[in-house]
Amino acid sequence: MKKAFITGIGGQDGSYLSEYLLKKNYKIYGIIRRNSITEHQKNRLESLDNSKNVELAYGDVEDRSSLDNLLKKIKPDEIYNLAAQSHVKVSFDVPEYTIKTNALGVFNILEAFKANSPKSKFYQASSSEMFGRSVDKDGYQRETTRFEPVSPYGCAKVFAFNLVKHYRHAYKLFCSNGILFNHESPRRGSNFVTSKVIKTAVEIKLGLTKKLYLGNLDSYRDWGHSKDYVRAMHLILKNSNPDDFVIATGYSKSIRELCKIVFDNLDLDYKKYVRQNKKFLRPEELKYLRGDSKKAKKILKWKPEISFQEMIEEITEFWLNHYNAKT
Ligand code: NAP
Ligand code: GDD
Repeated sequence: MKKAFITGIGGQDGSYLSEYLLKKNYKIYGIIRRNSITEHQKNRLESLDNSKNVELAYGDVEDRSSLDNLLKKIKPDEIYNLAAQSHVKVSFDVPEYTIKTNALGVFNILEAFKANSPKSKFYQASSSEMFGRSVDKDGYQRETTRFEPVSPYGCAKVFAFNLVKHYRHAYKLFCSNGILFNHESPRRGSNFVTSKVIKTAVEIKLGLTKKLYLGNLDSYRDWGHSKDYVRAMHLILKNSNPDDFVIATGYSKSIRELCKIVFDNLDLDYKKYVRQNKKFLRPEELKYLRGDSKKAKKILKWKPEISFQEMIEEITEFWLNHYNAKT
């Protein structure tokens, strides 16, 4: 039985990745942080609660001793480092904390991996936010596109990306970066734009709220489904060599278009309900993302299977059920 160690297991991707690997007969070890409301720690892990093949322990990527102890004991075949302060706007409010977790936290886990379990394969959750203002002339970002990050979050992820490459070359460790573009699901935190738009549109449909307040409506994102993207993480570690891969759909839409699609699905005119509020603007905005994942398609044989429309419908259904169950 293969063993996987997952940081950030309680997050959107960590929970889907665990379910995916369990089906592949893995034993899963995950770390969760202490939360003053115990029930909140495992909200997304309900489906795993009764599995004898899932073991959770308290741990933190900022606490090197917790990583050393666990990796020494478990010696996993695969390590997935998904832990992060993952909200870009919040990273402007708590930059030091974000940098500690998303950059120094990666240094900690790389060191713990090198010292205690150097035969493991290591996956780092890198991000399209690293590209920042940089786009190739043909309108795509790919593995060769320069990084010009525009947020503390993006800067920290660039540091981590470089460190992972450095450990690969310097210490001959199997460590790879997945450069994932935005990916969503019903488990996405409700302060990210897809969930926020869909949740509030459903509330408006049900008469619970009157308006949706957003920041920049003119940025573009390449949105896929988290389930497709965790499959890519596994394929990246199954590849014969450690390497870096862009994972994206290749399609890009503005926030305004997202609003139109979501409200149209609910027979509502988004123009009547969506308003801008400056408090949701960022000091610097990443305006445009569109990924080219030809390399992943060719080498990993990965391609997304869930369409944008299917994903929006699934999240809408989730929020409709959520509110209907309450009434
Ligand atoms: P998420 O839902 O916010 O999950 C992040 C997880 O990391 C949470 O379980 C969180 O725990 C945990 N965490 C935060 N700080 C930690 C620390 N110091 N030590 C241990 N665990 C910690 O994010 P996601 O969407 O699943 O994303 C997973 C990873 O992929 C992140 O690294 C993110 O930056 C990266 N990424 C995401 C996307 C995307 O579009 N989703 C795209 C590219 C890259 P708490 O619940 O206790 O806070
Ligand atoms: N969250 C949020 N809230 N975003 C808004 C809002 C709002 O009210 N109004 C407009 N937006 C715009 C943001 O300015 C941004 O241009 C876009 O919607 C997407 O914002 P988010 O959903 O917060 O995601 P993100 O692109 O900043 O970051 C996500 O994707 C990255 C990969 O590119 C996160 O998942 C990161 O962890 C990930 O690395």
